[in-house]
Amino acid sequence: MSVSLGIPQVRSAGPPPSGAPAGSGLLDRHGRRATDLRLSVIDKCNLRCTYCMPAGGLPWLPAATLMSPAEIARIVGVGVDRLGVTELRLTGGEPLVRRDLEEIVAAVRAAHPDLPVSMTTNAIGLAARAEGLAAAGLSRINVSLDSLDAQTFARLARRDRLADVLAGAEAAAAAGLAPVKINAVLMAGVNDHEAPELLAWALERGFALRFIEQMPLDADHGWTRQNLVTAAEIRDRLAARFRLDPHPAPRAGAPAELWDVRPLRGAAPGPVGTVGIIASVTEPFCADCKRTRITAEGRIRSCLFSHEESDLLGLLRAGADDEQLAERWRAAMWGKPAAHGMDRPGLDSPDYVQPDRTMSAIGG
Ligand code: 5AD
Ligand code: SF4
Repeated sequence: MSVSLGIPQVRSAGPPPSGAPAGSGLLDRHGRRATDLRLSVIDKCNLRCTYCMPAGGLPWLPAATLMSPAEIARIVGVGVDRLGVTELRLTGGEPLVRRDLEEIVAAVRAAHPDLPVSMTTNAIGLAARAEGLAAAGLSRINVSLDSLDAQTFARLARRDRLADVLAGAEAAAAAGLAPVKINAVLMAGVNDHEAPELLAWALERGFALRFIEQMPLDADHGWTRQNLVTAAEIRDRLAARFRLDPHPAPRAGAPAELWDVRPLRGAAPGPVGTVGIIASVTEPFCADCKRTRITAEGRIRSCLFSHEESDLLGLLRAGADDEQLAERWRAAMWGKPAAHGMDRPGLDSPDYVQPDRTMSAIGG
């Protein structure tokens, strides 16, 4: 299939063939149950990270195709009340680009006082909004940060905004959006040498750092296996400055493998913190996946790497009731693929069909 970006080209936008047992949550035919909802509130972003967006941006979705705060609250309500969703992550694009983000959070929070609601953000502009978001009911945040060097940051994100990101992360912690998690993607020859420094920086601030292997989701199709900085290489890099021991708590289906960290130098008697490594490519965790995704224009996507989407917002706008929305969601998840196949060779061969949308369009 040819690749088109931005405006979605999907193989089937209607309801996929069902078979999903009624009333049983978001089960799939491989025995998994999705409880973790990732909902993209916007496709737009103010950075242009090379592993995600092309330099010129993407053709953004028209505002009317995005979900309103009330529509988002309704969809989340169907997930929580009828389908067993137990946690929500707001994603983008960049969620902070939406001026009504506080309204979105408040609408969800009003209906679900105990739901954990987090957000993945690049933190630009967060310094001014962290308190308001916490007051609206946001629980925590994940900040994407790949470099502590202004030049390297600008090279990676194609925008000179490191200072805003750092200020945003600090403001989030001050506003109680804790624990603040930091997501870092390493690229060979660009920022991979910074791994130990990123960890030292995060430990000093009590931020939970997680490295994520770069996945082939970039708009420029520049991903190659040779350039992949693997989980094993990340551990090697960190070993220059830290001792890593497997964290004792059970992983329980979490994507990040957790390591206890001790500095090699200095007199710390016990671990000073942890670091997570998300080996999406080399050690995939698809068998334990608990995620269901809603794209910025309200389509159900069962997997980041799926080539199919199912229109939930269209059904909602056509007047469907909650049970009809739940039924479409169940049917879409029933067909979730078993695995993404990124661990198999040939991913950088012409035969591999990359999803037709970047992370920004699908929602990380
Ligand atoms: N591979 C790995 N991580 C990615 N992200 C965006 N694109 C990719 C990719 N191709 C990350 C961002 C953010 C999270 C939502 O996903 O850095 O932290
Ligand atoms: Fe924006 Fe996140 Fe994509 Fe970077 S990775 S361009 S911050 S959506």
